[in-house]
Amino acid sequence: MTAHVRKLLFATNNAHKLAEVQAVLGPDFELTTPRDCGVTEEIPETCDTLEGNAAQKAHYLHDRIGMDCFADDTGLEVAALGGAPGVHSARYATEGHDFAANNRLLLRNLEGVADRRARFRTVIALLLNGQEYRFEGIVEGHIIDHEIGHEGFGYDPLFIPDGFDKTFAQMTAAEKNAVSHRGRAVRKLADFLLKTASLL
Ligand code: IMP
Repeated sequence: MTAHVRKLLFATNNAHKLAEVQAVLGPDFELTTPRDCGVTEEIPETCDTLEGNAAQKAHYLHDRIGMDCFADDTGLEVAALGGAPGVHSARYATEGHDFAANNRLLLRNLEGVADRRARFRTVIALLLNGQEYRFEGIVEGHIIDHEIGHEGFGYDPLFIPDGFDKTFAQMTAAEKNAVSHRGRAVRKLADFLLKTASLL
């Protein structure tokens, strides 16, 4: 028997992220965005942890729209930089979500640094029937010393996940999703939603 498609609101207007997450969730779920629901302002994320920001974004949207929804927050945590840029990954170099400037600053801050270990960490907060749930995904890897590849977004051209010899920006979306922080967190979310039989 085919379950009906469940509509879920995902707190992003980033087309790359939307496509990645929709691909991982598969056809049982149809994602809607804040913009689809008439929310065009930037959703506040003013907390100093990924967990806090994910929850803040999910609650903000739930208050505005009243639908079950989830939000994610991701950080690149670099060992030699004490976990920076972390929760500040989007605005590392400037206020403007400037991926190229962020990458340049990261390379500058790692100049001459031998320890290149880094990880991406994603936290998802889900609000479902008035309850909040959290899911986490981590991928370990390292930062190289120049950009390689044109796929993906953000720090992808600088990050090689453990077990690979190419950057996220050299991978297809399917290859990246199979090992990425967000892929892992979203698969946990999907497993949870599919197991919660009453939802479908
Ligand atoms: P967000 O919380 O998902 O918006 O991520 C914050 C920032 O982390 C983004 O602006 C990117 O700079 C970076 N980031 C998040 N996910 C990825 C990814 O999958 N690859 C590369 N950079 C990412």
